[in-house]
Amino acid sequence: MLRVSSPVLGQWLGALCLLGGYFHPASAATTEQWKTRSIYQTMTDRFALTNGSTTTACNTTESNYCGGTWQGTIDKLDYIQGMGFDAVMISPVVKNIAGRSKDGEAYHGYWPLDLYEVNSNFGTREDLLKLSEALHARDMYLLLDVVINNMAYMTNGEDPATHIDYTVFPQFNGSAYFHPYCLITDWNNYTDAQLCQTGDNYTALPDLYTEHTDVQDILMTWSESVISNYSVDGLRIDAAKSLTPSFLPTYVDTVGGWMTGEVMDANATNVCNYQRNYLPSLPNYPLYYSMITAFLNGEPGSLLKEIASINSLCTDVPAMVNFIEDQDVDRWAYMNDDIMLAKNALTFMMLFDGIPLVFQGLEQFIASSNREALWTTDYDTNATLYKLLSTLNAIRKHAISIDSSYINSQTWPIYQGGSELAFWKGAVGRQVIMLLSTQGSNGTAYNLTLPRTYGAGIVVTEVLNCVNYTTNTLSELIVPMDKGEPRVFFPASMMPGSGLCGYNVTNVTHSELRLAAVAHRSSSGSHPVVPFASGFGPVLFLALVAFLSF
Ligand SMILES: *[C@@H]1O[C@H](CO)[C@@H](O)[C@H](O)[C@H]1NC(C)=O
Ligand SMILES: *[C@@H]1O[C@H](CO)[C@@H](O)[C@H](O)[C@H]1NC(C)=O
Ligand SMILES: *[C@@H]1O[C@H](CO)[C@@H](O)[C@H](O)[C@H]1NC(C)=O
Ligand SMILES: *[C@@H]1O[C@H](CO)[C@@H](O)[C@H](O)[C@H]1NC(C)=O
Ligand SMILES: *[C@@H]1O[C@H](CO)[C@@H](O)[C@H](O)[C@H]1NC(C)=O
Ligand SMILES: *[C@@H]1O[C@H](CO)[C@@H](O)[C@H](O)[C@H]1NC(C)=O
Ligand SMILES: *[C@@H]1O[C@H](CO)[C@@H](O)[C@H](O)[C@H]1NC(C)=O
Ligand SMILES: *[C@@H]1O[C@H](CO)[C@@H](O)[C@H](O)[C@H]1NC(C)=O
Ligand SMILES: *[C@@H]1O[C@H](CO)[C@@H](O)[C@H](O)[C@H]1NC(C)=O
Ligand SMILES: *[C@@H]1O[C@H](CO)[C@@H](O)[C@H](O)[C@H]1NC(C)=O
Ligand SMILES: *[C@@H]1O[C@H](CO)[C@@H](O)[C@H](O)[C@H]1NC(C)=O
Ligand SMILES: *[C@@H]1O[C@H](CO)[C@@H](O)[C@H](O)[C@H]1NC(C)=O
Repeated sequence: MLRVSSPVLGQWLGALCLLGGYFHPASAATTEQWKTRSIYQTMTDRFALTNGSTTTACNTTESNYCGGTWQGTIDKLDYIQGMGFDAVMISPVVKNIAGRSKDGEAYHGYWPLDLYEVNSNFGTREDLLKLSEALHARDMYLLLDVVINNMAYMTNGEDPATHIDYTVFPQFNGSAYFHPYCLITDWNNYTDAQLCQTGDNYTALPDLYTEHTDVQDILMTWSESVISNYSVDGLRIDAAKSLTPSFLPTYVDTVGGWMTGEVMDANATNVCNYQRNYLPSLPNYPLYYSMITAFLNGEPGSLLKEIASINSLCTDVPAMVNFIEDQDVDRWAYMNDDIMLAKNALTFMMLFDGIPLVFQGLEQFIASSNREALWTTDYDTNATLYKLLSTLNAIRKHAISIDSSYINSQTWPIYQGGSELAFWKGAVGRQVIMLLSTQGSNGTAYNLTLPRTYGAGIVVTEVLNCVNYTTNTLSELIVPMDKGEPRVFFPASMMPGSGLCGYNVTNVTHSELRLAAVAHRSSSGSHPVVPFASGFGPVLFLALVAFLSF
């Protein structure tokens, strides 16, 4: 491998690395830092047991605690990192209401009682701190799910309007901290979603009066403390749709760091309006619903229409969070058990603009329930989607590492067929091109001609199968399609350093790869050989880079 670097630049980079190493940020990471990351979401109670057992029963219908812990999560970080994820989102960590109602126990963490105590079912403060440290030791980020819209209270059959004892909430010990009781009747009415509450007559979710500055201050002070105490890198704001919108920018500015807020709505106008006015990031529900239409209803055109609408309405698409499953929506495999369709949707979701998020169990193609205990799968690292995710994370990371503009460059559709879509992301010469099919595993074998790709006579690697193709003199890429499989292309000369198709993960730069490619062409052709050897100074190097760059 050819390595050329400017000594001065090297010292600068060295100094920056040292600074990063010595002063670990006590505050959360920024939006730009988060954009390059890829998130694995766990539900702590259902992810891993302290004793590592994979045979302990967990009856999802009963909705009780099944025993997962932060220590269990620590012990399974290899499993997460093995798929290439560099951030983990965990369930809410605060003390929840105890006991069992008709709705079950608070195993999911969404029934808060006391912000300043941790949920002892998941472990101690020290365990949580150890999890944070273990993640950072692997250069992984910790994304914390926070419930700041409501508390929880079991009324066990009695009307919440009259049967909540507010003095039990240590930080909000009176009804004045809460909105008067009313049940949300119309989720499409945002005012209703903000002023009223969900829950039922067994478990009520008293809705915090988040217009009030006393409530806001308590929530912000707590959020700052939890970020600083556990070195949290970012927050997922649960039920952001139900929070007073004007509170959100105050919260974001005061607490600091990247946050993504849950506004479950298929309508891009509404969701992007939140990004425009209130939050840096949101889970991309409009994209999620249109992926279902495209891949499961066989309407690829609908995805293109939705992308156009998201691009025109959202202010920062690469900061949005992409997913095809989370803890609330149906499992993809439950909706459709053809794993080939899941492979296509997953490929699109991982490589399209945005921060990918995979909810635990998707990699095992679990169909039954999104609350299934993951240990029942034996953490199979040979599972089809586990391996696909590791490849997709690797090519995404590699593309980011050799192209600083990759993350913020917009994905362009370059082809639409009756059952195919192709997209381009990245700078010319190092673009990732994905070709997706909605045919499913019953799809037939045929050759598809992609009209505009990498220029003429370029060798490209299809990274999901490690096969090379050469574009023809018309710059067309002729791709053998079969069984509805997705394809992902990258220039073969840019593959070194990717960790894919026989290449190790190394710190390469685009310039090095370009120079190596030129050297390779020169030595195998009749062109004059560029003098790379000793005495090759930074000035000549920079000139050459300028000459070679597009
Ligand atoms: C799970 O719990 C439900 C409700 O208690 C029960 O009906 C069902 O039989 C249980 N399933 C198993 C496999 O134990
Ligand atoms: C492992 O831990 C779980 C949950 O705490 C428990 O139910 C189970 O009996 C334990 N299994 C073994 C083999 O110790
Ligand atoms: C809760 O109980 C009240 C009073 O009995 C009743 O009017 C209301 O419909 C119940 N709500 C639900 C969600 O069941
Ligand atoms: C709530 O807590 C505050 C501070 O601990 C206390 O002064 C106040 O009396 C409590 N209010 C109620 C209704 O218990
Ligand atoms: C929306 O909900 C609010 C609060 O519940 C209610 O006052 C208002 O009438 C509703 N608007 C519509 C259009 O239904
Ligand atoms: C999306 O929401 C906007 C405004 O909230 C509304 O005007 C529009 O009709 C909605 N679109 C769809 C498809 O429902
Ligand atoms: C991994 O999966 C492949 C096919 O999916 C199978 O042939 C192979 O035996 C599996 N290996 C292990 C170690 O389970
Ligand atoms: C594939 O075709 C077979 C036979 O026609 C059919 O039974 C099966 O449901 C199809 N599979 C999918 C995923 O469409
Ligand atoms: C696709 O093209 C290749 C190369 O021209 C050819 O060998 C192959 O038979 C074609 N496949 C199909 C299914 O037509
Ligand atoms: C693909 O092409 C590159 C560059 O020509 C070559 O180094 C690599 O070995 C090829 N990979 C495969 C799988 O043929
Ligand atoms: C990749 O790294 C391993 C272990 O360091 C080494 O043995 C192997 O030769 C390397 N492979 C390539 C293609 O550089
Ligand atoms: C890449 O560079 C970074 C920062 O200089 C360093 O921490 C890391 O260990 C390097 N990785 C490899 C695989 O060399």
